[in-house]
Amino acid sequence: MRTFIFAFFFSYLSMISGQVMASTDGIHLDEVEVDLSDKASLQRGAKTFVNYCLSCHQASFMRYNRMAKDLDLSDAQVKENLMFASEKIGDTMTVAMRAEDAKKWFGVTPPDLSVISRSRGTAWLNTYLRTFYIDDTKATGTNNLVFKDTAMPHVLWKQQGYLHHDEETGHLTPASEGSLSSYDYNVMVADLVNFLAYVGEPSKIQRLELGKWVLLYLFLFFLVAYPMKKAFWRDIH
Ligand code: HEC
Repeated sequence: MRTFIFAFFFSYLSMISGQVMASTDGIHLDEVEVDLSDKASLQRGAKTFVNYCLSCHQASFMRYNRMAKDLDLSDAQVKENLMFASEKIGDTMTVAMRAEDAKKWFGVTPPDLSVISRSRGTAWLNTYLRTFYIDDTKATGTNNLVFKDTAMPHVLWKQQGYLHHDEETGHLTPASEGSLSSYDYNVMVADLVNFLAYVGEPSKIQRLELGKWVLLYLFLFFLVAYPMKKAFWRDIH
């Protein structure tokens, strides 16, 4: 029986890892820490998202005023730093570009990123945003390690610089310098992925905060209930 359970367990494991390998062509995915309680990181990620992603992608499940509340920002701060003048604080994060235009320019419509952290996973996103490399055969001039032949250009090239891909070893090496060191660029992407994880599951922030109060309540309740139980049972024993 035990062998059977082990066999079952391992075949299940290899099934899962097989799927991951298949979806990324065997490329190693770099994990990234997701910390929804780190509001400073989420605020930086929001800023990067608005400045560099929202022109093509929307996050239509997310409203600006909800984001303000969750990220400990005032409506005025969000209006000033994260929104275009024409938008209202109750609007969702949609793009100015029309879907048909985007399709004409890129051949595909840039997908809505509301739940991308759940469909692709945060490690995939973290790797995707750091592995654009020069490929002159592509219209955008770049290709990507985990999303082969992606129609998305390397939008953060100013920060990261360009990477060269060695066909033989598969390694990426810097071909030109960006404005950020590779450490700072990794932090920028980690914050952005953290923000996308939040966008994918905004109510998780409330759950985490509520969870603390529930535990405190249970503890206090125990302090009252235990002496009471003792008092009630004293005569019966
Ligand atoms: C100039 C337009 C443009 C900008 C700006 C842009 N993207 Fe994209 N993105 C695209 C297009 C087009 C695709 C579709 C690629 C394909 O299907 O080949 C895409 C695809 C993606 C995907 C893969 C989605 C999938 O199919 O699973 C992710 C993730 C993504 N973008 C994230 C981002 C992030 C994060 C930013 C901001 C740093 C960003 N994009 C900025 C055009 C853009």
